[in-house]
Amino acid sequence: LEHISIRPKTFSEYIGQDRVKANMNIYVQAAKDRGEALDHVLFYGPPGLGKTTLAQIIANEMHVQLRVTSGPAIERPGDLAAILTNLEPMDILFIDEIHRINRSVEEVLYPAMEDYALDIIMGKGPAARTLRVDLAPFTLIGATTRAGLLAAPLRDRFGVIERLDFYSHRDLEEIIKRSAALLQVPITETGAGELARRARGTPRIANRLLRRVRDFAQVQADGVITEDLAKATLDTLQIDRLGLDQVDRLFLETIILKYGGGPVGLDTLAATLNEDSGTLEDMCEPFLLQQGFINRTPRGRMATPLAYKHLGLTIPPTDRGSA
Ligand code: ADE
Repeated sequence: LEHISIRPKTFSEYIGQDRVKANMNIYVQAAKDRGEALDHVLFYGPPGLGKTTLAQIIANEMHVQLRVTSGPAIERPGDLAAILTNLEPMDILFIDEIHRINRSVEEVLYPAMEDYALDIIMGKGPAARTLRVDLAPFTLIGATTRAGLLAAPLRDRFGVIERLDFYSHRDLEEIIKRSAALLQVPITETGAGELARRARGTPRIANRLLRRVRDFAQVQADGVITEDLAKATLDTLQIDRLGLDQVDRLFLETIILKYGGGPVGLDTLAATLNEDSGTLEDMCEPFLLQQGFINRTPRGRMATPLAYKHLGLTIPPTDRGSA
């Protein structure tokens, strides 16, 4: 049985992120027409919004190879040098989580990005010499959940910097219908709508929920994903009507019930929840912020009246304005 890939392979198959898509399409056509490598590109934004997919599409549309790695996977400068010297002209190197690259590796990237060159230091002390080795022209595509964590000299070497935003309900519905068709699972309009509503603006989550609901439809129903089936499955998975999962709700409940609605520092919250603060900041907070459930203040996170309302809690009269 062959694995069915639902990842879009061209810009025309890719739904949403219209501005990013339109811009990238122009840069790709222009670079192709000139016969040059595409400028280095940085994609940033919450996880699951399509940064890797876009890199694959760009490589596909440029007709070049894509080499995929990640910041933490490149341990030493020599690891990166080995990757760079193996690239063919115009190839694309995708570095996920580029904010986690270490300093010594980052320094190899600077001349590589700027001059397509490696500076190799030979010898030590006064006898040390640098040997410059030319690289094939290539494109670095970096992805990060937090552009603010990139060192300025690294950020400045990207010719294109694009932010990915959460997807609209309509785009998510389209993505779900497209994926369902590829997976050959029947889904009703309202079934797709219900999944889209609970997917946190994130295609990766939408596709994951689709696969889970498909399992329930197959085993406990007649195989068709209807609104009722989607609702029942997602309730079972404890994904609520707005797409919040257990961690999201616990995050809000902790601010409200343990810290009087806030403000409370992220590290304090992370310790209370026994979660990594980086995970909370990257995976949990962006959606809660975007949906207006929390505010970030200099003194920490605060729950908004909307959070109280969503959790069915009343705002205590002494609470001095979390609006
Ligand atoms: N699957 C995941 N992300 C997608 C997107 N943006 N468009 C189409 N299918 C997708």
